[in-house]
Amino acid sequence: HPVDDPARPGHDLVVVANRLPVDSRTLPDGATEWVTSPGGLVTAMESVMRTVDSGAWVGWAGTPGQQPAPFEADGMSLYPVRLDQEEIERYYEGYSNATLWPLYHDVIVAPVFHRTWWDSYVTANRRFARTAAPTASEGGTIWVHDYQLQLVPRMIREDRADVRIGFFNHIPFPSVELFSQLPKRNQILRGLLGADLVGFQRESDAQNFLAAVRKLLGYHVDGQTISVPGLGAAPVREVVAQTFPISIDSTAVSALTEEPELRERAMQLRRDLGNPQHVVLGVDRLDYTKGIRHRLKAWGELLGDGSIDPRETVMIQVATPSRERVEAYQQLRDEVELIVGRINGDHSSIGRAAVSYQHRSFDRRDMTALFMAADVVLVTALRDGMNLVAKEYVASRPDLRGVLVLSEFAGAADELRAAVMVNPHDIDELKAAILRALALTDEEQEEAMRSLRHQVMENDVQAWAHDFLQRLEHSGAPDRGPKPT
Ligand code: ADP
Ligand code: F6P
Repeated sequence: HPVDDPARPGHDLVVVANRLPVDSRTLPDGATEWVTSPGGLVTAMESVMRTVDSGAWVGWAGTPGQQPAPFEADGMSLYPVRLDQEEIERYYEGYSNATLWPLYHDVIVAPVFHRTWWDSYVTANRRFARTAAPTASEGGTIWVHDYQLQLVPRMIREDRADVRIGFFNHIPFPSVELFSQLPKRNQILRGLLGADLVGFQRESDAQNFLAAVRKLLGYHVDGQTISVPGLGAAPVREVVAQTFPISIDSTAVSALTEEPELRERAMQLRRDLGNPQHVVLGVDRLDYTKGIRHRLKAWGELLGDGSIDPRETVMIQVATPSRERVEAYQQLRDEVELIVGRINGDHSSIGRAAVSYQHRSFDRRDMTALFMAADVVLVTALRDGMNLVAKEYVASRPDLRGVLVLSEFAGAADELRAAVMVNPHDIDELKAAILRALALTDEEQEEAMRSLRHQVMENDVQAWAHDFLQRLEHSGAPDRGPKPT
């Protein structure tokens, strides 16, 4: 339904993210289809917004050049932002995903810097800010998300001194030494400091940001609070940088697993695989940060040295297509598919693949059935802001069965201490962790899973959003100077 009342008083909560929660696809007959957008940000924020009355979401609809009129979906107003083909190449694929993404993930691949990409990043950020600013009610809240939109908080503040502005970074924030490589680094910091509250996944991310602000801008930092020269009336604004580890809608995921139809689907999956003794699962966007190559290398060696028998143990690797026009992603896909092909050539039998490789999206129910069917889930990210897959697996196991192997470089490692922890760069350690996971007794699985579930069920995404918005509510009001204590 179109949002057809231009005189509406505005929304009390406006979310701004690069993507809308849904992507538009044009069908062969010319009709438009809307599908859920990929990634953890949408998984998390979609369930938050379902509980908000008359919220708004500003973002790109996923197709070049298109700007559908604002419309209502799931009780929320969606405001599409247009990105034309050149902006997709420069702002999205370029500066966001070939400059910032690798730099913020500890240069797993080399970041590329181009001035034209930066110019496009500024232009696109301005368009998001201009779309978002008028949608908020007087004194309302605008919550900006992720690395694609780091200039937006300040741009909105220049327009709207009355609103509270929060920013949450879903990905890691790099050490000041790495961040210092970034051309225009100070503009990025100033852009972020337009917010009243800047949220991060891990304590180390918040500390890295504070160190960058101190070192590169020379602003005074006291604990989590930064004194920022005011843009308007007040000489100084206080901005808080704090950790808020994101989560999932744990109760909803857990409840899904109680449905008889999903249980049957999970059992059918195992039957389809030939009823192996063990099913091992990886679920990732096809991204070089996820450590898929390391995982497959370890798996191939375990099969090669006979530690794992492919007739007893099957691996499923789900790899969601992602950023397919960015070179590093094309290379990664080639490499992953080469390794999978080799492993299957060496170890599959007719009718049973050693690695079942799925390069596509699954709907939420099929994804949950996969988690229910898996004895071990491998999260071997080389760097990851949080990794919601780890939390989804835990929420999918009210039966207290299954083992999570978790990289210490995923944000989730700070909370999910009862997982089998691993440094995925160490292939021998990774192999040992996989074998340990496969050998855990039912009692050991139960003990670990109980502790993991306690963590995930208690700290869900609603609590995360509540904590962030509460903190934002109590942070210094925009340009009215610091709040009296
Ligand atoms: P990122 O945000 O980097 O993609 P996360 O692990 O935090 O990583 O979030 C990924 C989200 O996308 C999870 O909710 C996961 O279930 C979902 N997902 C990953 N792969 C697929 C797929 N092939 N089909 C459907 N959903 C997927
Ligand atoms: O933080 C994870 C994230 O990068 C989101 O910002 C993003 O929307 C998602 O992963 C998926 O990536 P993309 O939008 O580039 O397909």
